[in-house]
Amino acid sequence: MRFLITAGPTREAIDPVRYLTNRSSGKMGYALANAAMKAGHEVVLISGPVNLPSPKGCNVLLVESARDMYTAVEKCIRETDVAIFSAAVADYRIAHPADTKIKKNSDELSLKLTKNPDILGSARQEFGFSGFLVGFAAETNNLEENAVGKLTEKGCDLIVANDVSRTDIGFDLDENEVTVFYKGGKSAAIPFGPKSDIAIKLIREIDGQISR
Ligand code: C5P
Repeated sequence: MRFLITAGPTREAIDPVRYLTNRSSGKMGYALANAAMKAGHEVVLISGPVNLPSPKGCNVLLVESARDMYTAVEKCIRETDVAIFSAAVADYRIAHPADTKIKKNSDELSLKLTKNPDILGSARQEFGFSGFLVGFAAETNNLEENAVGKLTEKGCDLIVANDVSRTDIGFDLDENEVTVFYKGGKSAAIPFGPKSDIAIKLIREIDGQISR
């Protein structure tokens, strides 16, 4: 099957030398791309800026901002059977990035933010995607409630939730522990382990769901 995977953070320009971003390393998304290829799938990986080698054998599209990622996904999703959105997309961008470097002339500086497009939330309605849709939910509280809310709201078949309030798993680390929530109410825990193992289990889970 043809997989589209988003990974990493996005970078939102403040001026030509500064940006807003988050702590995502892209490790989970890159592990998923490798696992999907090992399982015999074709992979397009749409990645924000990360310090990871591009997985060999997949088509990697490097992007910077949430809007760049939106455009890349819009272009590729029609050719896709399974779309996995593991990127930590910035919810907001700078409303008016400066054309030249901002000088430290005043004691306070206010930056006006404006909402970014929700890429996963656009998959069904805006892009007309009818394949298997997987979202991620990184939560600090009410994990199940928030994850299941996103699953329904964004039209996902499955959502992968992890607790980012824990310091031993998740953002920027090599290990993770996740709970998978399915459309229809079932859930399954994938225990603590390297992201590469979690990725293999998730791809197996997705393959299993589709071949039912
Ligand atoms: O940010 P939020 O918790 O809503 O993210 C849930 C899911 O939505 C993740 O899969 C993330 O990749 C995706 N997302 C996106 N575009 C955004 C925000 C989130 O694709 N602007």
